[in-house]
Formats: sequence, C-alpha cells, structure tokens
Amino acid sequence: MKRPKMPGVKSVETKYMEEREALFRDLAKLDRRAFMKVSAAAAGIVAARGLLPPQSFQMVQVASAQEPNEQAPSGKGRGESFHFAYISDSHLYDRTLNDRFINSIMRAVDDVNAMDPQPDFVLFGGDLAQLGSPTELELGAQILKNLKAPLRVMVGEHDWYLDMGAKWRELFGEPTYSFDHKGVHFVTLNSVVEKDFWTARKLTDKERMLTVAGLDNGVQSPFSVGEEQRAWLKADLAKIKPNTPTVIFSHSPLYKMYKPWNFWTDDADEVQAILRRQQKVTVIHGHTHQLLTNRIGNIHFHGMLSTAWPWPYAPEGLPALTVQMARPDPFNPMDGCGDGSMNVHADGLIDKVYNLWNRNPITITKTYTATKGAKDKPQAPTRASY
Ligand SMILES: [Fe+2]
Ligand SMILES: [Fe+2]
Repeated sequence: MKRPKMPGVKSVETKYMEEREALFRDLAKLDRRAFMKVSAAAAGIVAARGLLPPQSFQMVQVASAQEPNEQAPSGKGRGESFHFAYISDSHLYDRTLNDRFINSIMRAVDDVNAMDPQPDFVLFGGDLAQLGSPTELELGAQILKNLKAPLRVMVGEHDWYLDMGAKWRELFGEPTYSFDHKGVHFVTLNSVVEKDFWTARKLTDKERMLTVAGLDNGVQSPFSVGEEQRAWLKADLAKIKPNTPTVIFSHSPLYKMYKPWNFWTDDADEVQAILRRQQKVTVIHGHTHQLLTNRIGNIHFHGMLSTAWPWPYAPEGLPALTVQMARPDPFNPMDGCGDGSMNVHADGLIDKVYNLWNRNPITITKTYTATKGAKDKPQAPTRASY
C-alpha cells in the first residue's frame, strides 16, 4: 500500500538531499578549517542510520557468493573471502576553481562509508589531484580521511610531475609497497614512471606537469614501471609461494592498449613475465576511467571507474572481455562515473563490482574472467547510450 504524503513532513531522502546540497553550496566558500569541520559533518550525516544516498550500492554478501567446490590454498588466514572498495581518479582542482570534482569524490566516500558490511580496506587508485599542487593533494587527503575503513593509496601521473612526488610522499609515504591480507599478497606499484623529456626542453616544473596532464600531446614519454621497481617486484614475489593469490595495483594498465593516450605501460611485457610465476594474479588499474576487462595468460585485468569523468574508449578497440559502458548522459556530469568494490574469493580470484552512478552496478565475476568469457556473461548496462 502506498503511504499518503504528509503535508509539511519531509521524507528521509529529501532531508538528506537538502543537507547535501547545502553542504556542496557552501564548499566553495570555505577556508581550510571550516572545510575540515563540514567534511566531518558530511560523514556524520551518512553514518546516521537510514540516511543512505539513493544511488549507493548494496554489497552482495561475499560468503554467499562463494562456490562450494572452491579450492582454498592452505595456510594462515587463507580460504577466507573478503571485500575491499575502491575510489579512483578524482582529479581534484583547488576548490576555488572547481568544486564539481570535490562533490564527486565526497559522493564516493559516502558510498563506501554506507557499505554494509564495511570493506576490509579502501584502495585509492591514483590521480587524486589534477595538477599535482600541494593544495589539491592536501584537499584530497583531507576528504579521504573521512573514510571509515583503512585506506591504501596509489599514485597517478597527475599527482607526481609538479614536484616529482615530494608532496605526495609527505602525505602518503612511498608509492611502491606490498602487504598481505587474509592470505592474499597485495603489491602497489608506481607505473607512471616517465623518461626525462623536460630537462633538454628546459621546461619549468609547471610546464612538465601540464605536459604530463595533457594525455595525447605526444611530448611526454610512455609510462613504465622501470628497471628498479621490476627488480623490487621480482624480489618481493620471491618471498611468497607461486600458489599465493596475488593482486597488483597499478595506475596505468599493465598491458599495451593505446599508446597515443598513454593507455599503455611500456615495459608491460617484462612486468607480465615476472607475474607469470604466480598462479593467480589480478591487476587492478586506474587511469582509463571506464569499464575495462582483460585476460592475458594467468593475469586478470580490471580497470576502475573515475569519480571525475569517463574517458571515451580507445579507438584501437577493446580487450574481448570488456563489457562496454553505455555512452553517458552529457547533461549529467556524474553519469559514467562511480566507484566500486572487489570481492576476493577464498581461492584468491576476484569479482569486480563497478558501481556506476545513476545506473545499476555491473559485476564482472571471477568465473567470467576465469573461463575467458565462456560462462557468467555480465548483464548489459541497464540504460541505453545517449
Ligand atoms: Fe585519471
Ligand atoms: Fe592517470
């Protein structure tokens, strides 16, 4: 039965949206102290029971998604399914210039804070800032502090090339690291290493950053992981068993897709050769701002959504496993953007959940990538292209 609307009584959703709108309206005017206060208040609004944003996604209980015949590797903590969330590519400008992207990343923080159960951790996938400035990076760090779950951060090219990572390191530490969680080995790489194109051209720091930020200008060098990190990766993986499930976080895709836009990692073949030692490997990457699925040998690849804008697909075509995103609504700046999560199964393989804002979530299951698309084909997007 439909409940009659009470005159003068606002629904929970209306109240929530009004509070959010007021918050966003005021953001541009805030000084730093006031911003921190209001940002904490936003987290409080979301934490209040029943005040979930209408588009937030509901997590599938990972335990129930587990197949009964899964072969869990033995050892401490193994065989336990879990999930982690991701937020990526927020491209924050200073808030005096643009607060649209601030609103978007805060929406993602709200989404993740509303997840029940909470993720074990949240991965931020790089390109926190637009032009690598200290104010952009600090703003991003401040917003991400509102996450309830622990945070892991990866670097993107937009964060790095103004001061060659000085501010980013001060905020988040070294960009290359590994950690173990519930039997899975996680590695975070800096995959946006570029060869020096700036010294010979006598570019200023700002010119260098602007060159890197212009994806298709043809001046910058292609991204790479580089010899030093490859040696580190090899040594890092040598410490674990070949059957230990391994997840690699890299900002650029660790395969060669489209060089003119740097949807590309120049030493991808060498990195893949190192990863071939592991029996189950998943690479999670940012940078491409779109649904993107690939499988090369034993390596499963998943792209992440951006909170700022969706890139078009590269003109050279897509990996066969990719479920194409519908063309976003040009009149809705948040369409085609989003966040998401990964359900890590007991055997170490991953279901990738794309929480596309304004559309239903799309899940790329481990069965789909494991069978190279033969089984479990994901549902097509629920709304047509514009
Ligand atoms: Fe990006
Ligand atoms: Fe990027």
